[in-house]
Amino acid sequence: MSTAIQENAYNYKVVRQFAIMTVIWGIVGMSVGVLIAAQLVWPELNFNLPWISFGRIRPLHTNAVIFAFGGCALFATSYYVVQRTSQTRLFSDSLAAFTFWGWQLVIVMAVITLPQGFTTTKEYAELEWPIAILLAVVWVSYAIVFFGTIAKRKTSHIYVGNWFYGAFILVTAMLHVVNHLSIPVSWFKSYSLYSGATDAMVQWWYGHNAVGFFLTTGFLGMMYYFVPKQANRPIYSYRLSIVHFWALITVYIWAGPHHLHYTALPDWAQSLGMAMSLILLAPSWGGMINGMMTLSGAWYKLRTDPILRFLVVSLAFYGMSTFEGPMMAIKTVNALSHYTDWTVGHVHAGALGWVAMISIGSLYHLIPRLFGREQMYSVGLINAHFWLATIGTVLYIASMWVNGIMQGLMWRAVNQDGTLSYSFVEALEAGHFGYLVRMIGGSFFLFGMFLMAYNTWRTVRASDTEKANAHARFTVGEAH
Ligand code: HEM
Ligand code: HEM
Repeated sequence: MSTAIQENAYNYKVVRQFAIMTVIWGIVGMSVGVLIAAQLVWPELNFNLPWISFGRIRPLHTNAVIFAFGGCALFATSYYVVQRTSQTRLFSDSLAAFTFWGWQLVIVMAVITLPQGFTTTKEYAELEWPIAILLAVVWVSYAIVFFGTIAKRKTSHIYVGNWFYGAFILVTAMLHVVNHLSIPVSWFKSYSLYSGATDAMVQWWYGHNAVGFFLTTGFLGMMYYFVPKQANRPIYSYRLSIVHFWALITVYIWAGPHHLHYTALPDWAQSLGMAMSLILLAPSWGGMINGMMTLSGAWYKLRTDPILRFLVVSLAFYGMSTFEGPMMAIKTVNALSHYTDWTVGHVHAGALGWVAMISIGSLYHLIPRLFGREQMYSVGLINAHFWLATIGTVLYIASMWVNGIMQGLMWRAVNQDGTLSYSFVEALEAGHFGYLVRMIGGSFFLFGMFLMAYNTWRTVRASDTEKANAHARFTVGEAH
């Protein structure tokens, strides 16, 4: 594929690189997910080896799926969307290339250090300080490329998708820097600058907004471009999208304490977190409805277009998980759900149903365009992937609901004399079947990713450089 820079041509090279790596890291991260799911069914699979034990590879799974798979999808789509909606090439090709290689290096270092047990122990912020600094440098470069491109745009307004991508980039930088402030004691060990309840609060301010800004706001940017594009309809309400944006980012940032109910955190902070989480239902559903209603008059397309199906079902899961989240934030509900598999089910309703499905749908739209094809090599395989992903997600979350509620009820059941009705091991045994169903659901989802990899490989192999270059060329003033 030619990499020559043409006058008035978008930079598709970096988009292609991130798009391909999304598929690859998706397979890696989800394979580790299936492995840890299997370890919870058959503990023998820990093989008595420290570096493959559940405790060490669980953070490898979360880092690989969130930052490697999700991160690459966000880089690929944001670079594509910001160029096309701003009608200008990326601000700097070399800095964009640096973000690609720098991001891959961060991921490879995570793959090497996490199984060895090097960790800050802060969830979703496990990477030790030298890697965290590299990540910060890559992220600032990303911000420069993204906002630099916005600054030199040839359009008068900034498309709403870019507002969402922009907020995700800025807030992620802030969260990462503040939560990672620490004192290094060696190359691979550091201690947080904060202590006690303050440390917990900073961590969950980070943790919740990692969900809110990394796993939600960035993907909403994706939604605002790819849903209208694939449906070939304008977004349902531009006005609603602006209200959606400001309401979402204003409210999300306060909800972190719902992760710390009934802890040493001051009670008022817990109640504030709960109240803000309940309010969050409104902007979340506003966005979901805006995406769904974009299909008004085009619902019939769902019968024949599996890509659109991926996008719409992802919105349905987004709506479901953002209803479930506020309910779980209510203190009395959280008293039952916290520490149980219900939380894990909620996570994957968002992670598989929303994050992964919107990314997969967007990539199926994107990949043929990047490689000069009309469509993916096989629409039938996209359809098969859609069903595997949907059934896999449903099996995963349904089994975790059953397990979670059962665990919560068993843990709190007491006999008349006040002793516990069940031992912890009895509750653990009762969850065994649920773990098996979750592992099967996860395997379905992973199998779908292999179909996607094959479909992508066949599409890339048949790539047409001429047509790809033609797609990358643009004239200022034409529709994006
Ligand atoms: C094949 C698909 C997947 C499988 C089988 C899977 C499996 C698992 C398992 C077994 C756990 C540990 C649960 C526990 O400790 O009890 C886990 C945790 C987690 N996974 Fe996945 N996963 C998959 C895909 C994903 C994806 C695509 C994402 C994100 C985009 C994701 C995000 C997470 C997160 C954030 C956690 C931590 C949850 C918590 O701490 O409550 N997973 N996953
Ligand atoms: C209105 C939106 C949402 C609210 C109010 C919300 C609320 C909650 C609550 C109350 C918990 C349980 C905390 C605990 O008991 O420890 C939780 C956990 C979690 N949620 Fe959500 N949620 C929302 C949307 C989402 C979405 C869309 C995703 C994924 C894309 C997501 C990912 C997670 C993760 C990863 C955790 C587990 C954190 C951990 O313990 O490691 N949430 N959420």
